Amino acid sequence: MSTERTPSDPAPLLDIQNLRIGFKTPFGMTQAVRGVNLRMGRERIAVVGESGSGKSVSFRALLGLLPGSSTVEADRLELQGENLLAMSPRQMRKTRGGRIGMVVQDPKQGLDPAKTIGAQITEMLRLHGKCKTREAKARVQELLADVHIRDPRRVAESYPHQLSGGMAQRAMLAMILSAEPDLLIADEATSALDAVVRHRILDLIDEQVRLRGMGLVLISHDLDLVGGYADRILVMYAGRVMEELEGSRLSQAQHPYTQGLLACRPSIDHPGGELPVLQRDPKWLQ
Ligand SMILES: Nc1ncnc2c1ncn2[C@@H]1O[C@H](COP(=O)(O)OP(=O)(O)O)[C@@H](O)[C@H]1O
Ligand SMILES: [Mg+2]
Repeated sequence: MSTERTPSDPAPLLDIQNLRIGFKTPFGMTQAVRGVNLRMGRERIAVVGESGSGKSVSFRALLGLLPGSSTVEADRLELQGENLLAMSPRQMRKTRGGRIGMVVQDPKQGLDPAKTIGAQITEMLRLHGKCKTREAKARVQELLADVHIRDPRRVAESYPHQLSGGMAQRAMLAMILSAEPDLLIADEATSALDAVVRHRILDLIDEQVRLRGMGLVLISHDLDLVGGYADRILVMYAGRVMEELEGSRLSQAQHPYTQGLLACRPSIDHPGGELPVLQRDPKWLQ
């Protein structure tokens, strides 16, 4: 596939070509991401792979969130045709949280412990110029209702520590949605939650993505969990995309690594059975 665009071919929502990320460590440079490509529109992409495969750093790089010890290079790293690598710190702050929203695993990281939920959403609305001051209170309640919080008034007046994990995750999502982003990145957004709440939050993210016509990148180590929520699945291993699958075709995975990930799932039919250990092939790295 050609990576060149013609004038009649509008810029995709996100265009990542040959993304490479390295870290300086006491032992020298380590290459965490080795040439990732992703061109996506307003669709739902799942990025899966075992821990350490480079999922988080790939997408944190888009937002300029990597530490100073990192180097980020790409042939192209664009949001709607705009070069993310060339943005000034000020432009990047506007893009982050404005055009790209990021849901993280721990709402305590995304929410300020010293401010009520309502105050934080109001601040976000003001920062991104999304409503007039006198309308802010009503808009906060609306946003909290959008994420299916039954008692928006009480939650708006609560501090993050007063909420359950699932409720805090909803409140963080409401805050992110208040900026009306074009792209939502959810990085292990449900990994700290129990199984039932996990599906409810993913259903909610899915619903909001469809209603608002956003693009979604759903990052998870759990192929089984997120597969059903994605149009396309990228399987990462050691800083590379090993395989790309249609969301509905998970069981037809060709790559032995993906097949291995699927085979290592605990099964309801054989609970307590011994799980196979994923056998890695050095050839995958070539
Ligand atoms: N600050 C850092 N310094 C050095 N190496 C890092 C740093 N952050 C991440 N890495 C390395 O980058 C690789 C990918 O990490 P990450 O993207 O967090 O994996 P995951 O797929 O679990 O999200 C890992 O091997 C990790 O050791
Ligand atoms: Mg990660």
